[in-house]
Amino acid sequence: MSLLERKLWRNLDVFGSNMDEDVAHHFSFLKPASYDDVPLLAAANFLEEFSNELDRLVVLGDLATTGMDQDLEVAAQVFLDGRTKQHLNAALEPRLGGLGIPMHIVPGNHDRYQDDKATPGGDAFDRYFGSVYKPSKGVCSDTVRNDDLAIGVISADFCFSAGRELAYLRRLGRGAVDDIVLAELDYQTRQWQRDNPDMPVVWALHFSPADGVSTSLVLEEREKVTNLAKKLRVNHIFCGHTHLRKRQVGTHPHIYCAGSVSAIDSSDKHFLHICTLSQSDTKQLQLEVFDLKYDEHLQEFVSYPVSIAA
Ligand SMILES: [Fe+2]
Repeated sequence: MSLLERKLWRNLDVFGSNMDEDVAHHFSFLKPASYDDVPLLAAANFLEEFSNELDRLVVLGDLATTGMDQDLEVAAQVFLDGRTKQHLNAALEPRLGGLGIPMHIVPGNHDRYQDDKATPGGDAFDRYFGSVYKPSKGVCSDTVRNDDLAIGVISADFCFSAGRELAYLRRLGRGAVDDIVLAELDYQTRQWQRDNPDMPVVWALHFSPADGVSTSLVLEEREKVTNLAKKLRVNHIFCGHTHLRKRQVGTHPHIYCAGSVSAIDSSDKHFLHICTLSQSDTKQLQLEVFDLKYDEHLQEFVSYPVSIAA
């Protein structure tokens, strides 16, 4: 019912990159894009199959269509409801909370839209997801530990804050580096590195600081993030938002754009990713990211033959 109410044929904040593809995007100023429940179900099935091997589920934002109650309720059910202790409920809808995999989540711009006109600054997300999202000044630190290895996952929320006067076109799909959040990211990263010497840190952001992101989806002042990453020797940044799987590697930091899991406007671009950390006999650490792409015919996520070791 919620999906029908969202009027899926009207997509807001994807107009810049997709306007030529489909006449439906003439409606793109009217409603935020929502999700397709078929690939989402496939993602839940995949996670269930490998749940015993996964230490953390990192979700890089835009869990909900908007930050209004009607959308956050749907997202909270999908991600948090664990009453069934399974990945589906009786109506075969995804219930990732039932998997028992600890989550690290980051809010995206959609999660903070206060209305269908992309007014930023909504804070209801923090209330709905308060059981798993506990930021300090927009930043969360998390330690994934297994035997002698640990990896830090530190996320930062660069969504526009409440009360900012923004031109309508600017607030659609954009984020901006907030100096207070950035200072907290700096502080928490140093703390983690001090407590876990020689172990790697990954930053989890919603907005991509990579080169070549379209103007309509850009993270304003993104170089502040990449400069800080270089200074702190954070070599890996995971991000979402663009709906395009992309890797900017070979430079530092490496930036991994995840693509979408199930966005309604991103057919044939749905991905999951598995990140592993291992240590060789010579104590050399290796972080690898494996991609899984949604196959529309099989209706499941299957291995996508690209692997980057770093
Ligand atoms: Fe986004």
